[in-house]
Amino acid sequence: MSKLKILVTGSNGLLGQKLVYKLKDNPKAGLIATARGENRLIDKSGYEYVEMDISNKVSVDSVIDKHKPDCIIHCAAQTNVDYCELNQEECRKTNIDGVSNVVDACKRNGVHLVHVSTDFVFDGEAGPYREDDMPNPVSYYGWSKWEGEKIVQATNLNWAILRTILVFGITDNMSRSNFALWAKRELENGNTIRVVNDQFRAPTLAEDLADACISVAFRRAEGIYHISSETTYSVLQLVKKVADFYNLNKTLIRPISSTALNQPAKRPPRTGFIIDRAKNDLDFRPTKFEDALVVLDGQIGMKFR
Ligand SMILES: NC(=O)c1ccc[n+]([C@@H]2O[C@H](COP(=O)([O-])OP(=O)(O)OC[C@H]3O[C@@H](n4cnc5c(N)ncnc54)[C@H](OP(=O)(O)O)[C@@H]3O)[C@@H](O)[C@H]2O)c1
Repeated sequence: MSKLKILVTGSNGLLGQKLVYKLKDNPKAGLIATARGENRLIDKSGYEYVEMDISNKVSVDSVIDKHKPDCIIHCAAQTNVDYCELNQEECRKTNIDGVSNVVDACKRNGVHLVHVSTDFVFDGEAGPYREDDMPNPVSYYGWSKWEGEKIVQATNLNWAILRTILVFGITDNMSRSNFALWAKRELENGNTIRVVNDQFRAPTLAEDLADACISVAFRRAEGIYHISSETTYSVLQLVKKVADFYNLNKTLIRPISSTALNQPAKRPPRTGFIIDRAKNDLDFRPTKFEDALVVLDGQIGMKFR
């Protein structure tokens, strides 16, 4: 049986690393991991690593034309929402031009494209959202990801778009933290933290998202899928759950409104997804937040995650 050749973009990121660790020893997959600069994963065996900056068309063309994967799981993106608001040209190069570069190379090589997007394409006025609800982003990041989706949808490629929400987990040499690790660290250090009480999200364990991407790749599934946990909480509730799990001092958590926090980028107030399509088509079974904390905790201090 021939292996499915899968190329992952952004393999140094949270989702990218989870995909590499899940796919590298899969006998049904041949894996090419790609990212900017050096490979930051500790375990470098069982897959090929190639440097690829998605905003550089020459780099994307040469890597994809050479390796001719069956499937690309496109995780690379500028994911810092406030940074995107303040650095729009840089964000555009990655989240829009980068998608065009990957799409063009996929077209030439007949690749199944699995593209990862976000709940931030929605305005957050009417969550939880279905796949066919109309996007209306309220930040530059959200807008750039919606533009990226439109580029994918306009092709006649075999494509799937997986939208996800508030991804959390732990990997090697992370370039960005996430709310669960941030809350744990700050509270353990005895620091007061300000946490919004008027934004509602269904958080996604990085492993669950990676499993959904892999399921889409092997099924050659097409169309839009919403991937998150089933229950929507306020960010304040989520941080309190982290504090409870680690028995940390909840009086250090200061509730704040989004208006008072005044971040550079506006956030959608209430997202959350209806995930029936993923449950039916992909057999997607998301981990409950409380169980996800057990998974995360088990990985802290481990060498390979
Ligand atoms: N994290 C979330 O809460 C969340 C929520 C909704 C949707 N998503 C989507 O999920 C996907 C995966 O995100 P993630 O959580 O894994 O974020 P992440 O940890 O920030 O990973 C993104 C990766 O993309 C890489 N990257 C940025 N520009 C690149 C370029 N020009 N060429 C190649 N690689 C580049 C980054 O490289 P460096 O490490 O070198 O900076 C980083 O490793 C993204 O499409 C994101 O929009 C994430």
